[in-house]
Amino acid sequence: MATKKKQASSTKQGTLFPLGAPNAKAQTLVRPATRPVWTENKAKLIETYLRLFVMITHHGVYIDAFAGPQQPDKPDTWAARLVLMSKPRWFRKFFLFEIDKEKVQLLEELRAAQPAPDKKKKEPKREINIFAGDANEAILRILNERSIRMKDATFCLLDQHTNQCDWATVQALARYKTGNKIELFYFFANKWLPRSLAALKDRERARKWWGNDDWEKLRDMRPVERAELLAERFRTELGYKHAVPWPIYDKKDGSTIMFFMVHATDHPAATGLMDRAYHKAVISEKDFKQVAMAFDAAPPSRGGSS
Ligand SMILES: C[S@@+](CC[C@H](N)C(=O)[O-])C[C@H]1O[C@@H](n2cnc3c(N)ncnc32)[C@H](O)[C@@H]1O
Repeated sequence: MATKKKQASSTKQGTLFPLGAPNAKAQTLVRPATRPVWTENKAKLIETYLRLFVMITHHGVYIDAFAGPQQPDKPDTWAARLVLMSKPRWFRKFFLFEIDKEKVQLLEELRAAQPAPDKKKKEPKREINIFAGDANEAILRILNERSIRMKDATFCLLDQHTNQCDWATVQALARYKTGNKIELFYFFANKWLPRSLAALKDRERARKWWGNDDWEKLRDMRPVERAELLAERFRTELGYKHAVPWPIYDKKDGSTIMFFMVHATDHPAATGLMDRAYHKAVISEKDFKQVAMAFDAAPPSRGGSS
């Protein structure tokens, strides 16, 4: 019985990975972009991935450390908004952080605009927490208060401009849980990083961001080397089983990597799900359900331990 179930699951996965199933080695490398994701689609990528995530977990906690909209006039590129609007509405708890007062106001308006849970669709009551101020301080506070339960499947977006996220914050998030760690999706600037580091006056900021003085070496490295070095740190320093830098491109020329989003996770299926989300152009609504079912069938299940 168990063998049959395993075979069925692997047959399903065979059809679900037309682009090639990720293997252990490939997971450590920057992926070639057969269908690149443009900067303006970053929020869509996050929302697409989290739809797959929640179809497996049936619940979840979403942390967004830099949650205000980068372009308030383009609400469809605002990650927190897309995640809150996304269906099924099974994420139960949200922690949204923002330092800019006007953007905090936008987050409050977003929260006020949320519909009541639809009981017919078994939507749970939601808790949406908004924190005004420095996310580095506030995240440490909510982690110290044990606001997230060990069994809550938790995803954290760290969508900084360039160097606002302290390495100590990343470490605290990574250390919080026993079992599968909090999943991270970390913004790593690329195109403007060397220039920005060269012009940097606040060396202490860079030190806090990178966690040591090695940030000075980044300027002389190639983009892919930098991204892989960072992914390696997520694996070796923070202990994540998988960490993959996903390149996000400039739509104008189609070949410039503007930044990477490093996805760090302990769950064996999560990198495959991100692969699907990244190639969303080839996923139909029907395939969404199939992907979720296939991963659900593949032990160990994410539920309760991500
Ligand atoms: C790149 S934007 C985030 C974009 C957003 N994720 C979106 O989808 O549009 C970075 C945000 O972080 C905020 N920010 C900068 N430093 C911060 C800090 N230390 N703590 C919290 N928020 C901060 C900025 O005001 C800005 O709204």
